[in-house]
Amino acid sequence: SDAKFFVGGNWKANGTVSMVDQLCKDLTAGAKQFDPKNVDVVVAPTAVHLQQVKGALGAPYEVSAQDVWIKGPGAYTGEVPAEILKDMGITWTLTGHSERRAYCGETNEVVGQKTARALEADLNVIPCIGETLDQRNSGQLFEVLTAQVQALVDNIQDWSRIVVAYEPVWAIGTGVVATPEQAQEVHAFLRKLFTEKLGPQTASTLRIIYGGSVSDSNCKDLATQPDIDGFLVGGASLKSGAFLTIVGSHS
Ligand code: G3H
Repeated sequence: SDAKFFVGGNWKANGTVSMVDQLCKDLTAGAKQFDPKNVDVVVAPTAVHLQQVKGALGAPYEVSAQDVWIKGPGAYTGEVPAEILKDMGITWTLTGHSERRAYCGETNEVVGQKTARALEADLNVIPCIGETLDQRNSGQLFEVLTAQVQALVDNIQDWSRIVVAYEPVWAIGTGVVATPEQAQEVHAFLRKLFTEKLGPQTASTLRIIYGGSVSDSNCKDLATQPDIDGFLVGGASLKSGAFLTIVGSHS
């Protein structure tokens, strides 16, 4: 599509103070390898590493949370609301990552509400959607995605601050990447669905990024697909060299 390429690095529940320090140094040194006019690059460390990363990584990088609380600040022990992220200079959050759906019971409705909450507090949001292998094999792929998208459509007004991540669950952390054809098929389906629901203007500029076993060796073929506007990278985002190759894969 016409949208600016976008690459997110989701560090998941990984990192030590010294590892994060080194990764930020390496990313800072590597920033000259890409042109920020052509690609947005966002990294998502754990909640407790956010401040360290924010302090160590300046422009062109932006910093994202991996999740956000469904309500505002208050008596919600253990949670991090969007206002607190915003105050710390965090400009993005993921919502609805498949690991949160699977391990923390987040439903489409919860993901929609968290996304709305984050937008209200002025964050940019990367809602994540995707089917399991069982759902794909039993012919429910498009039905599952449509329900996940509908929950977003019901909750989001301003789509200019949204980047949608399509992550087939069977490809996450498995080394089994979707083929460029498989990914393009779904991205084209999603683009059409968003066109129906939001109109052609919004749909053509909406970034739809792919996640699931993206690596420095498979990124190029995926990046050239017409409806793939970037990547959400897990494992490979912990290695600066591989991550920077993925960041540069569109050019
Ligand atoms: O958010 C990132 C995805 O879950 C992909 O993870 O690159 O380790 O497969 P992965």
